[in-house]
Amino acid sequence: MPRKAIAVLIGLLLVLGVSVFALLRTGPATNVTTQSGTPLIGGSFSLTDHTGKQVTDQDYLGKYMLIYFGFTYCPDICPTELQIIAGALDSIGDKRRKQITPLFVTVDPERDTRELMASYVENFHPDLVGLVGTLEQIKKMGKTYRVYFKKVVDKDRPDGYTMDHSSIVFLMDKKGRYVRHFSHGTTSKKMAEGLIKAID
Ligand code: NI
Repeated sequence: MPRKAIAVLIGLLLVLGVSVFALLRTGPATNVTTQSGTPLIGGSFSLTDHTGKQVTDQDYLGKYMLIYFGFTYCPDICPTELQIIAGALDSIGDKRRKQITPLFVTVDPERDTRELMASYVENFHPDLVGLVGTLEQIKKMGKTYRVYFKKVVDKDRPDGYTMDHSSIVFLMDKKGRYVRHFSHGTTSKKMAEGLIKAID
Protein backbone atom coordinates (compact mmCIF):
# COMPACT_ATOMS: atom_id res chain seq x y z
CA MET A 1 0.00 0.00 0.00
CA PRO A 2 1.41 3.45 -0.89
CA ARG A 3 2.42 5.63 2.00
CA LYS A 4 -0.20 8.26 1.14
CA ALA A 5 -3.00 5.68 1.23
CA ILE A 6 -1.84 4.48 4.64
CA ALA A 7 -1.83 8.07 5.93
CA VAL A 8 -5.38 8.60 4.65
CA LEU A 9 -6.51 5.32 6.20
CA ILE A 10 -4.99 6.24 9.58
CA GLY A 11 -6.65 9.65 9.31
CA LEU A 12 -10.05 8.07 8.65
CA LEU A 13 -9.65 5.64 11.54
CA LEU A 14 -8.76 8.53 13.83
CA VAL A 15 -11.84 10.51 12.80
CA LEU A 16 -13.99 7.42 13.28
CA GLY A 17 -12.47 6.80 16.71
CA VAL A 18 -13.03 10.36 17.85
CA SER A 19 -16.64 10.26 16.59
CA VAL A 20 -17.40 7.04 18.44
CA PHE A 21 -15.77 8.45 21.56
CA ALA A 22 -17.82 11.68 21.28
CA LEU A 23 -20.98 9.64 20.74
CA LEU A 24 -20.32 7.47 23.78
CA ARG A 25 -19.60 10.52 25.89
CA THR A 26 -22.79 12.34 24.94
CA GLY A 27 -24.79 9.12 25.24
CA PRO A 28 -25.51 9.15 28.98
CA ALA A 29 -26.05 12.91 29.01
CA THR A 30 -29.03 12.62 26.67
CA ASN A 31 -30.54 10.05 29.02
CA VAL A 32 -30.68 12.46 31.94
CA THR A 33 -32.37 15.18 29.90
CA THR A 34 -35.96 15.38 28.79
CA GLN A 35 -36.92 16.69 25.39
CA SER A 36 -37.48 20.13 26.89
CA GLY A 37 -33.90 20.07 28.16
CA THR A 38 -34.81 19.78 31.84
CA PRO A 39 -32.58 17.30 33.65
CA LEU A 40 -34.45 14.50 35.36
CA ILE A 41 -33.17 15.21 38.83
CA GLY A 42 -35.38 15.08 41.88
CA GLY A 43 -38.80 13.67 42.61
CA SER A 44 -41.01 12.59 45.43
CA PHE A 45 -39.62 11.60 48.80
CA SER A 46 -40.96 10.58 52.17
CA LEU A 47 -38.78 11.14 55.25
CA THR A 48 -38.79 12.37 58.84
CA ASP A 49 -37.52 15.84 59.74
CA HIS A 50 -35.30 16.56 62.75
CA THR A 51 -38.33 17.61 64.83
CA GLY A 52 -39.90 14.19 64.29
CA LYS A 53 -42.48 15.26 61.73
CA GLN A 54 -43.21 12.90 58.81
CA VAL A 55 -42.62 14.91 55.65
CA THR A 56 -42.77 14.51 51.90
CA ASP A 57 -41.60 16.70 49.01
CA GLN A 58 -45.13 18.15 48.96
CA ASP A 59 -44.50 19.83 52.32
CA TYR A 60 -41.74 21.94 50.80
CA LEU A 61 -43.59 23.16 47.72
CA GLY A 62 -44.04 26.92 47.55
CA LYS A 63 -40.41 27.51 48.47
CA TYR A 64 -37.11 26.71 46.83
CA MET A 65 -35.31 23.69 48.25
CA LEU A 66 -31.55 23.71 48.67
CA ILE A 67 -30.68 20.07 49.17
CA TYR A 68 -27.47 18.50 50.37
CA PHE A 69 -26.84 14.83 51.13
CA GLY A 70 -24.34 13.85 53.82
CA PHE A 71 -24.02 12.46 57.33
CA THR A 72 -23.41 13.80 60.82
CA TYR A 73 -20.28 11.70 61.44
CA CYS A 74 -18.63 13.17 58.34
CA PRO A 75 -15.23 14.47 59.48
CA ASP A 76 -14.82 17.40 57.13
CA ILE A 77 -16.64 17.48 53.79
CA CYS A 78 -20.16 17.83 55.17
CA PRO A 79 -19.42 20.42 57.88
CA THR A 80 -17.52 22.51 55.35
CA GLU A 81 -20.32 22.32 52.80
CA LEU A 82 -22.99 23.12 55.38
CA GLN A 83 -20.99 26.17 56.44
CA ILE A 84 -20.81 27.26 52.82
CA ILE A 85 -24.59 26.88 52.51
CA ALA A 86 -25.14 28.81 55.77
CA GLY A 87 -22.80 31.56 54.59
CA ALA A 88 -24.63 31.83 51.27
CA LEU A 89 -28.04 31.97 52.97
CA ASP A 90 -26.86 34.72 55.31
CA SER A 91 -25.58 36.90 52.51
CA ILE A 92 -28.57 37.02 50.15
CA GLY A 93 -30.89 39.09 52.37
CA ASP A 94 -33.84 37.97 54.50
CA LYS A 95 -36.41 38.33 51.73
CA ARG A 96 -34.65 35.81 49.51
CA ARG A 97 -33.55 33.60 52.36
CA LYS A 98 -37.15 33.15 53.48
CA GLN A 99 -37.99 31.70 50.06
CA ILE A 100 -35.53 28.84 50.53
CA THR A 101 -35.68 25.71 52.67
CA PRO A 102 -32.21 24.25 53.12
CA LEU A 103 -32.39 20.47 53.59
CA PHE A 104 -29.68 18.18 54.86
CA VAL A 105 -30.50 14.57 54.01
CA THR A 106 -28.60 11.79 55.73
CA VAL A 107 -26.89 9.09 53.69
CA ASP A 108 -26.13 7.21 56.94
CA PRO A 109 -29.59 6.20 58.20
CA GLU A 110 -28.06 3.52 60.44
CA ARG A 111 -26.46 6.08 62.73
CA ASP A 112 -28.22 9.35 62.01
CA THR A 113 -31.19 9.25 64.34
CA ARG A 114 -33.70 12.06 64.54
CA GLU A 115 -32.18 13.23 67.83
CA LEU A 116 -28.64 13.25 66.48
CA MET A 117 -29.79 15.14 63.39
CA ALA A 118 -31.58 17.72 65.56
CA SER A 119 -28.47 18.53 67.55
CA TYR A 120 -26.33 18.54 64.41
CA VAL A 121 -28.28 20.93 62.19
CA GLU A 122 -28.48 23.61 64.86
CA ASN A 123 -24.70 24.00 64.65
CA PHE A 124 -25.02 25.40 61.16
CA HIS A 125 -28.10 27.48 60.47
CA PRO A 126 -31.48 28.09 62.14
CA ASP A 127 -33.27 27.44 58.82
CA LEU A 128 -31.53 24.15 58.17
CA VAL A 129 -33.84 21.12 58.21
CA GLY A 130 -32.31 17.71 58.80
CA LEU A 131 -34.00 14.72 57.18
CA VAL A 132 -33.66 11.11 58.30
CA GLY A 133 -35.39 7.92 57.26
CA THR A 134 -35.06 4.21 56.69
CA LEU A 135 -32.36 2.90 54.38
CA GLU A 136 -35.06 2.23 51.78
CA GLN A 137 -36.39 5.79 51.96
CA ILE A 138 -32.91 7.28 51.73
CA LYS A 139 -31.94 4.99 48.84
CA LYS A 140 -35.07 5.98 46.96
CA MET A 141 -34.43 9.70 47.33
CA GLY A 142 -30.73 9.33 46.57
CA LYS A 143 -31.62 7.57 43.35
CA THR A 144 -33.95 10.32 42.13
CA TYR A 145 -31.21 12.89 42.81
CA ARG A 146 -28.56 10.66 41.25
CA VAL A 147 -26.53 10.89 44.41
CA TYR A 148 -23.82 8.35 45.08
CA PHE A 149 -23.25 7.02 48.59
CA LYS A 150 -21.60 3.92 49.93
CA LYS A 151 -20.65 2.51 53.31
CA VAL A 152 -16.92 1.81 53.44
CA VAL A 153 -14.77 0.16 56.08
CA ASP A 154 -12.53 2.61 57.94
CA LYS A 155 -11.05 1.33 61.18
CA ASP A 156 -10.00 4.83 62.22
CA ARG A 157 -13.58 6.12 62.26
CA PRO A 158 -16.31 5.55 64.89
CA ASP A 159 -18.07 2.18 64.43
CA GLY A 160 -15.36 1.17 61.96
CA TYR A 161 -16.91 2.73 58.91
CA THR A 162 -17.44 5.91 56.99
CA MET A 163 -19.72 6.91 54.13
CA ASP A 164 -18.39 7.77 50.69
CA HIS A 165 -20.79 10.21 49.14
CA SER A 166 -21.08 12.80 46.41
CA SER A 167 -20.98 16.40 47.54
CA ILE A 168 -23.42 18.36 45.41
CA VAL A 169 -25.93 21.02 46.46
CA PHE A 170 -29.19 20.96 44.49
CA LEU A 171 -31.50 23.90 43.99
CA MET A 172 -35.11 22.98 43.27
CA ASP A 173 -37.79 25.53 42.44
CA LYS A 174 -41.10 26.23 44.23
CA LYS A 175 -42.74 23.39 42.35
CA GLY A 176 -39.98 20.94 43.22
CA ARG A 177 -38.33 21.06 39.82
CA TYR A 178 -34.58 21.04 39.32
CA VAL A 179 -33.11 24.51 38.74
CA ARG A 180 -29.37 23.94 39.06
CA HIS A 181 -26.73 22.45 41.27
CA PHE A 182 -23.59 23.73 42.92
CA SER A 183 -20.65 21.40 42.58
CA HIS A 184 -18.18 20.63 45.34
CA GLY A 185 -15.77 23.51 45.84
CA THR A 186 -18.29 26.28 45.15
CA THR A 187 -17.65 29.16 47.54
CA SER A 188 -20.34 30.83 49.69
CA LYS A 189 -20.03 33.92 47.53
CA LYS A 190 -20.52 32.01 44.27
CA MET A 191 -23.43 30.09 45.75
CA ALA A 192 -25.05 33.32 46.94
CA GLU A 193 -24.67 34.81 43.45
CA GLY A 194 -26.24 31.70 41.95
CA LEU A 195 -29.15 31.79 44.39
CA ILE A 196 -29.83 35.48 43.73
CA LYS A 197 -29.76 34.88 39.99
CA ALA A 198 -32.18 31.96 40.30
CA ILE A 199 -34.63 33.67 42.66
CA ASP A 200 -34.79 37.23 41.29
NI1 NI B 1 -19.66 14.13 54.13
